Amino acid sequence: VPDTPSTEAVDNIADTRKVPAELIAREVARRRTFGIISHPDAGKTTLTEKLLLFSGAIQLAGTVKARKSGRHATSDWMEIEKQRGISVASSVMQFEYRDHVVNLLDTPGHQDFSEDTYRVLTAVDSALMVIDAAKGVEEQTIKLLNVCRMRATPILTFMNKMDRETRDPLELLDEVESVLKIQCAPVTWPIGMGKNFRGVYHLLRDEILLFKAGSERADQEFEVVKGIDNPRLSEMFPLEIEQLKMEVELVHGASHPFDLEAFLAGTQTPVFFGSAINNFGVREILNALLDWAPAPRPRDASVRAVTPVEAPFSGFVFKIQANMDPAHRDRIAFLRVCSGRFERGMKVKHLRLNREIKVSSVVTFMASSREQVEEAFAGDIIGLPNHGNMQIGDSFSEGEQLQFTGIPYFAPDFFRMVRIRNPLKIKQLHKGLQQLGEEGAVQVFKPVHGGDLILGAVGVLQFEVVASRLLNEYGVDAVFEGTSISSARWISSDDKKALADFERSSAGANVAYDAANNMAYLATSGVNLKLTQERWPQLTFHATREHA
Ligand code: G4P
Repeated sequence: VPDTPSTEAVDNIADTRKVPAELIAREVARRRTFGIISHPDAGKTTLTEKLLLFSGAIQLAGTVKARKSGRHATSDWMEIEKQRGISVASSVMQFEYRDHVVNLLDTPGHQDFSEDTYRVLTAVDSALMVIDAAKGVEEQTIKLLNVCRMRATPILTFMNKMDRETRDPLELLDEVESVLKIQCAPVTWPIGMGKNFRGVYHLLRDEILLFKAGSERADQEFEVVKGIDNPRLSEMFPLEIEQLKMEVELVHGASHPFDLEAFLAGTQTPVFFGSAINNFGVREILNALLDWAPAPRPRDASVRAVTPVEAPFSGFVFKIQANMDPAHRDRIAFLRVCSGRFERGMKVKHLRLNREIKVSSVVTFMASSREQVEEAFAGDIIGLPNHGNMQIGDSFSEGEQLQFTGIPYFAPDFFRMVRIRNPLKIKQLHKGLQQLGEEGAVQVFKPVHGGDLILGAVGVLQFEVVASRLLNEYGVDAVFEGTSISSARWISSDDKKALADFERSSAGANVAYDAANNMAYLATSGVNLKLTQERWPQLTFHATREHA
């Protein structure tokens, strides 16, 4: 018996497993995966809701909003759990619009701002930045934009709340350019503001979209007047039109014309003005997202770049969320598909564990219905139920040894020292923190010179979650205390001796190792950090590190 099958048999096998290349290419081309970045209260929830309304994914305004108000309640354990359930459901919203499949990833803001927020941005192909036009660029927007910059993510900008008294539009653009260091290309320009907000002028189409206080309806149409010189406009609001003409001239002279290449390179952002609550300017932003934002792009997988249209399935986990039932330690791992077609029930390889797993139950995220989805393509997010054997940064494939890169850990901004009330529980504490650390719920640092473990987080809610979960899942009653640490930096150097000297020096009192055994310096102040850096020029101090 020949040990190689006949060519006919090979063809047959290939036929049953082969996914037509054109099908994959078509599905990839119509996908857009993005996240909204904004400072709390800029209007992210409102805008999300309007986007879903447009797509027909939800019929009623208030749906998303209701979820959000649930999220703002108290922070005791049950509440956090409940909120988590809610946020699992709303953390990815998939909808169709104009024959495109749009995946909108929620970047939690507010009090539950955490490392998740950052990591979600590693799974998107573009981002929509929402700015409250009365306030301008705010703190959390700056942080989130810096994360986008790490991967040169293309950014669209929406200046929201033009129905209120806002800051001068030119000044807003200036601020974005100088603070966020990204070129602005206004695409629409506001006519008036607040009570005198008349609409926006589309600079590329020479059209005026007339403002009307919005309804909750998805199919709302705003009247369009063609041409800035249209006599109708001067009749309707003579003062504002004169002003607009002046401004447009200024804008044409002083700002940058929209340049698709620069946008895709992440160096220029097209800017739209509008009012989310009035549904005004929202369709323009959605259309821009479909027309300009990139479909899924190739991803670095260490050994090679993986292109979205290749037939074998691959993807990586960027977020892990504890599920509703703490008794079962159920978790959902959020996986971004990077290539091929995922089919429910298929076998995939968990590359870190070198183990094949059969994925029979997956969670997907159609905003309109919570059906089990049968297939997914590059750009889509699938939720894998996970009993603790998946970590952030884990890669999956149909067998090839890939390791997707670019999942960052960020230097924490908040620190706590952990003590336990019952010293006999020390083992459980370490086990719990190890697992929670792997899951990315918190960062754990062990000082070289003994002492208590130090926890680091980018949002304080992370500590509450960890305390509750230690108690509920590991039976450890831990006390968190403030520390004198103000920031952390990971240390690297080619000079082994310098590293050892550093650890033995007086600075060594502030040296610790994280869960993945990377050396870190825990600084007590900005000045302390600066001085230490100056004293140790052989060492590099990193504010981020990549998943190993
Ligand atoms: P967030 O998710 O970014 O935190 O913001 P969210 O959408 O919740 O909006 C924050 C507040 O801003 C809300 O008011 C919302 O109604 C309001 N808002 C959003 N878009 C616009 C807009 O275009 N114009 C105006 N004038 N307001 C806008 P709130 O009073 O906090 O909540 P609510 O009582 O309206 O629910």
